[in-house]
Amino acid sequence: MNTETGHQLPRIGSKAPNFKAETTKGTISLNDYQGKWFVLFSHPADFTPVCTTEFVAFQEVYPELREEGVELLGLSVDSVASHLAWIRSIEKTFNIEIEFPLVADSDKKVAISYGMIMPEESQTETSRAVFIIDDNQIVRAIIYYPLTTGRNMKEIVRLVKALKTTDNHGTPTPANWESGDKVLVSPPKTHEEMKKRASQNDIECLNWYLCEKSID
Ligand code: BEZ
Repeated sequence: MNTETGHQLPRIGSKAPNFKAETTKGTISLNDYQGKWFVLFSHPADFTPVCTTEFVAFQEVYPELREEGVELLGLSVDSVASHLAWIRSIEKTFNIEIEFPLVADSDKKVAISYGMIMPEESQTETSRAVFIIDDNQIVRAIIYYPLTTGRNMKEIVRLVKALKTTDNHGTPTPANWESGDKVLVSPPKTHEEMKKRASQNDIECLNWYLCEKSID
């Protein structure tokens, strides 16, 4: 529960809160992502060192995310003018164009409804939150990092790919799974299913509840 608004904060499996906001690419609302996956992430402030390294890194993985059909949407409480100046500075310093939009959440409306502000850490800045939202506008995964630690983009891409693999094949993925690795088989729910496993030659089992298979 958000104590300021009384709203339920997004949780894995819940509908993403609606928003309509000004961004570096014009007005964008949740509805614009209807039928598309997207990653909504917040950063504390423009023109700060960790955030700058993150923006370069987000841009570097953006083509790979787009290949997966996944969009990126950044957010902080800074203005559009600040975002534009910062993006230009990043482009000049690193010779890299920031192609994804950046929300100017000056009134903190989106940040509050998504629970991106951790008042014990900062009352004024958004922490480093990541929401992976699917094509049905359901929140599929949430990651939070503190102000002082830059995020691992490879993990965000890995998580997106793992979620999509689970959707496409109906299978969970193991620790440290990467695209192309074997996936897990959900454990049997009945005695009959458990016995059937012994005769299945498309799966490899370490024991009755821990089996893996290839999906290529
Ligand atoms: C940074 O991006 O460097 C940063 C931003 C806010 C607080 C601490 C670090």
